Amino acid sequence: MHYRIRIQGHLDPGWQDRFWGLCIEQQETGTTLLSGILPDQAALHGVLLQITRLGLVLLSLETSEAPGGQEKSVFSTQTKKTGLSRLSYVSTQGENNMNIDGAVMLITGASSGIGAATARAASRDGARLVLAARREERIAQLADELREAIAVRCDVTDADQVAKAVQTALETFGRIDVLVNNAGQGLQGQIDEIDPDDFRAILDLNLVAPLVTMQAVLPIMRKQGVGSIVNVSSGTILSVIPGTGAYSASKAGLATLSAVARAELASTGIAVSTMYPFITATEFLESIRADHESAARLESSNSLQPQKPDQVAEAILDLIRTGAERADLVPEQYGGTYRG
Ligand SMILES: NC(=O)c1ccc[n+]([C@@H]2O[C@H](COP(=O)([O-])OP(=O)(O)OC[C@H]3O[C@@H](n4cnc5c(N)ncnc54)[C@H](OP(=O)(O)O)[C@@H]3O)[C@@H](O)[C@H]2O)c1
Repeated sequence: MHYRIRIQGHLDPGWQDRFWGLCIEQQETGTTLLSGILPDQAALHGVLLQITRLGLVLLSLETSEAPGGQEKSVFSTQTKKTGLSRLSYVSTQGENNMNIDGAVMLITGASSGIGAATARAASRDGARLVLAARREERIAQLADELREAIAVRCDVTDADQVAKAVQTALETFGRIDVLVNNAGQGLQGQIDEIDPDDFRAILDLNLVAPLVTMQAVLPIMRKQGVGSIVNVSSGTILSVIPGTGAYSASKAGLATLSAVARAELASTGIAVSTMYPFITATEFLESIRADHESAARLESSNSLQPQKPDQVAEAILDLIRTGAERADLVPEQYGGTYRG
């Protein structure tokens, strides 16, 4: 059963503060379960916190002009895509409203899996794309397939190549609205087996490179006064999974970096969001840096069906549209909120 929660703010000259109408409906039947008025911002935040804790779907958060009021929309309307109800998805910050149509989007790791799926989905919604990865023929082919897309060969662990990719994006499209920091790799191994050189390489790719890429686009986004960054972490960090220490440490670092960037950029019009995919049917397992066999064993030891990259792509696009802090596709038993 899914619930539709609508919160609408009104500014009435007779009230000290904006007041908020709250309405909870059962989504399938449209039955109103609860409606009422939240007298002030503090009450609103209390409700948003409860929504977050319960992992409910927040579809709409908007303000409107009351008769005689001067209020402009403060919170943006969230997407009302029905498919979203399968994701346990919450936004407690509605300031950002990025239109995918026409947005210039730089996607790292666009040559396969989640990155390629995100590029295709974004292109269907009208985004202009900069596809970055090392396998040039793959991204060139994808760029040919898509409308208004360019391929830029880029090893994200090389800061010069990142700077060049960003420059090319700017020269081609004149702006960069969205960065999806998706390039990444797995590394499997028990703590006493992890080769420190492999660990350094994984940290470089999964943690340092997203920082460098954010640093490369931020001056552009600051100048524009608008931007969206989605960092692709991993659902493995929401529980403790033996054998994933090195990979999870890199992705936990990325999640923290992402959260801090979000706080630091809160008043700039740039939203930073974190995506937590779980087991997804991509080339991830084949491209794992070490101990492919044990990773494959781990994955087949549970009965979970791998998710489709398209599903992750849709969740990433919704993060971009809403500026929400996070989305996960992680089953509840692994610490996430996904009940699909
Ligand atoms: N699949 C899962 O189960 C899963 C679960 C949770 C999180 N994730 C995360 O999701 C993201 C995408 O992974 P995926 O599942 O789509 O796996 P994938 O199919 O193996 O894709 C990984 C992408 O990263 C790119 N990449 C790797 N090293 C790079 C480098 N040095 N410079 C530029 N690009 C590089 C690869 O492109 P090139 O080789 O062409 O450079 C490829 O496009 C990763 O960050 C991964 O950690 C995946």
